Amino acid sequence: MLKLDKVSKTYKTGDKALHNACFEVPAGQVVGLIGPSGAGKSTLIRCINRLVEPTQGSITLGDTELTGLNRRELRRARRRIGMIFQEYALVERLTVMENVLSGRLGYVPAWRSYLRKFSADDIAQAFSLLDRVGLADHYNKRADALSGGQRQRVGIARALEQNPELLLVDEPTASLDPKTSRQIMRLIRTACQERNLPAIINIHDVMLAQQFSDRIIGLKAGEIVFDGAPDALTDEVLTTIYGDEDWTQLRGDNAEQSTDPETPAVDLAEGV
Ligand SMILES: Nc1ncnc2c1ncn2[C@@H]1O[C@H](COP(=O)(O)OP(=O)(O)O)[C@@H](O)[C@H]1O
Ligand SMILES: [Mg+2]
Repeated sequence: MLKLDKVSKTYKTGDKALHNACFEVPAGQVVGLIGPSGAGKSTLIRCINRLVEPTQGSITLGDTELTGLNRRELRRARRRIGMIFQEYALVERLTVMENVLSGRLGYVPAWRSYLRKFSADDIAQAFSLLDRVGLADHYNKRADALSGGQRQRVGIARALEQNPELLLVDEPTASLDPKTSRQIMRLIRTACQERNLPAIINIHDVMLAQQFSDRIIGLKAGEIVFDGAPDALTDEVLTTIYGDEDWTQLRGDNAEQSTDPETPAVDLAEGV
């Protein structure tokens, strides 16, 4: 169980990115977090693992109040929280297997995971996860030799290799074509069901969110303006969330997004 109580974030620039977010996510529930660009979706999920430091409020995972942890405790707690990124955040020059194994350590700088030795159990689990995501034959390939969809599968396997208690997913399909997007969403959803794993998935594609979430939370300018079942997401609600933007274009249409596989990995060490 994840619980957010009155969580707010104001950046140093004065941007009020999130205001008084309150909700609970029970085990096994997949939450689709939707809203226009700049609504605060990334801020919200990054507040949970404190890649962004919340300005106010408390966040609790199981018995642990994440907002009260010191750096060392936070590093340990982050191992319980898997994260999947839009641009995959793989280490390009490492193999698929090495990238998955790095999940064992939570998200730490690459050189550290590279130097670390892994147990036979870790490796067996990584093989089993690669098989699960359909990449068993590719374990020894370098990450930079993979397609976008394959890279995201590695990202999923890496997050699951942590045996997380919570999955945070930031725009997992934004760089993928529509068919691959559905495959990736299905894979995340099934993995959560199999493991009774709660997840929050930021996703701008309303159709995908509806199809693969148990619950939708809608953000607008940092405020939660909708929290309910996917089929309660009426045109009227969507107009509230997306305002004047023509949200009908968001329905299932992400074909024009970039599929550039060369986008650099994000800096995982930020804020640690
Ligand atoms: N590091 C930052 N510093 C200052 N403002 C930021 C930072 N990150 C995001 N913001 C601002 O916070 C708001 C929410 O951004 P974000 O959480 O990235 O939204 P979304 O993921 O929904 O597109 C935006 O106004 C954005 O400009
Ligand atoms: Mg974002």
